[in-house]
Amino acid sequence: SLVTSKQMLLDAQKGGYAVGAFNVENMEMLKAVVAAAEELQAPVMLQTTPSTVRYGTLETFKAMAAAEAEKATVPVCLHLDHGSSYELVLNALRAGYTSVMFDGSHADFEENIRLTKQAADAAKACGIPVEGELGKVGGKEDDLDVEEDTNTDPNQAKEFVERTGITSLAVAIGTAHGFYANKPVLDKERITQVKKLVSIPLVLHGASGLSDEDVRECVQRGMCKVNFATELRVVYTDAGKKLLLEDPDLFDPKKLGVAGMEAVKEFVKGRMLVCGCDHKA
Ligand code: 13P
Ligand code: ZN
Ligand code: NA
Repeated sequence: SLVTSKQMLLDAQKGGYAVGAFNVENMEMLKAVVAAAEELQAPVMLQTTPSTVRYGTLETFKAMAAAEAEKATVPVCLHLDHGSSYELVLNALRAGYTSVMFDGSHADFEENIRLTKQAADAAKACGIPVEGELGKVGGKEDDLDVEEDTNTDPNQAKEFVERTGITSLAVAIGTAHGFYANKPVLDKERITQVKKLVSIPLVLHGASGLSDEDVRECVQRGMCKVNFATELRVVYTDAGKKLLLEDPDLFDPKKLGVAGMEAVKEFVKGRMLVCGCDHKA
């Protein structure tokens, strides 16, 4: 059955690797990510954003994730990514999500603390780990649109963790959601600085478009969870496009699904190897 993210992130922190957290949009992507984890014997986090939840509902994603986790031999967690309201966090907890994020990074420091603590209190009452975010990850993630990057201040991070009671922290170091028009400028030293003051697992957002070396160095410096979204969407959709170009008469959705699943599974395995979470289940 589904497990929480607590132990897998603490194990990653101890072991110096990161758990891959993969955004899934449908049954096929969800199955592909679990299949990749199974083949590499990796612990894994499936995650859905608010817009994905509106598309598929919390209950449907929970049911699909639970069914796949039941068959899997590896730990599988279902996480709410970028939870945008207290109400959505409560609904995810009610639906059976085993990890949640509340993203108050758009608010000022005090308001972020107030909102995040409210969500963290609810999650903790249910025994569910909660991720918060301080500083801003650039680019467009779902409905959030960030204009300029604001990297996480290490001293503020310490205070934020203490006052909210979150169990993992998304740290902004110059990454952005989506691909990069120009090579991103990453403040990797910032990870080391935050890690010195913050004892909970750190989370890297916006990993699509980062080189293997960049991801590896961020993990070495202390990122224990790495989020991948855009790359999976592109890989999934490209596989379907390719198949339709080869065979314009194709009408069986299962054929498109199989092509997408195969492509996503292979891609996710590559990213898991970079995170170093293979054979850590
Ligand atoms: P990318 O779309 O850049 O992979 O970002 C993923 C992410 O941070 C999801 O929360
Ligand atoms: Zn993100
Ligand atoms: Na990105």
